[in-house]
Amino acid sequence: MIKKAVIPAAGYGTRNLPITKVIPKEMFPINGKPAIHYIVEEAAASGIEELLIIVSRSKNSIIDYFDDSPELEAILESKNKQHLLQNAQIPKVHIQFVRQPRANGLGDAISLAKRFVGNDSFAVLLPDDIILGKEKAGILELIDLYKQYKGNVIALKEVNEDELKNYGVINGEEMEESLYLLKDIIEKPESSPPSNLAVIGRYILSPSIFKYLEQVIPGAGGEYQLTDAIKLMLQQDNCFGKVINGQRYDIGKMDEYLQLINRFGSV
Ligand code: G1P
Repeated sequence: MIKKAVIPAAGYGTRNLPITKVIPKEMFPINGKPAIHYIVEEAAASGIEELLIIVSRSKNSIIDYFDDSPELEAILESKNKQHLLQNAQIPKVHIQFVRQPRANGLGDAISLAKRFVGNDSFAVLLPDDIILGKEKAGILELIDLYKQYKGNVIALKEVNEDELKNYGVINGEEMEESLYLLKDIIEKPESSPPSNLAVIGRYILSPSIFKYLEQVIPGAGGEYQLTDAIKLMLQQDNCFGKVINGQRYDIGKMDEYLQLINRFGSV
């Protein structure tokens, strides 16, 4: 089953400059916890046991956040204030980190997970996308489909036509309501997007993806794109797309970040 997940958190956060010079987007606060805390919670709640977080030079605060804080715990205990940390308990998953030396794109970041992944299918959670599932966690919806169909599965959302150029966009055959068998996938189409179904940041991928990641050349934005590797994979393997049953917030967009904060009640 799906026990391993990769969280690529190495991007520059250019959409959110200048604050991202010093605060990684993944550390933006939501109700007292950083955004990436919710991603780790989602993974843990979906049965993930081992996590690899891909960071870059300026992201040490992410590593610090998930570390134990024995001094702080001792101080709180001596003052009988342990409850102050309880709200921020790190979910019980094993977390390791790797650094992406250069910002060469999502495909390049995922390729760093090859050793960690080994021979198992695995989950990818993009930490920009906070997904509040209606019935189950976003990634769990994909894991359950993976169990049923045994193929790769990616999360989709219907978006307005003028927004499609910011996403990976699929062409697919509808198999049942909101479930598609992919025929094609294009990263950030400049014109003529093949549908209004955009990829959002949850994937279940077979380890064969690494073979295709080695073959991709720089694509949209001059970066190595995961989407381009998935496109190559489609020649051999099935990939399903599922319109997620829930609300997705892109925390890189200020209006969606604010909506999310309001939903939780505070920064
Ligand atoms: C990435 C993926 C894109 C996907 C998007 C979802 O793009 O490359 O296919 O649609 O995440 O958030 P980015 O937003 O990193 O440019």
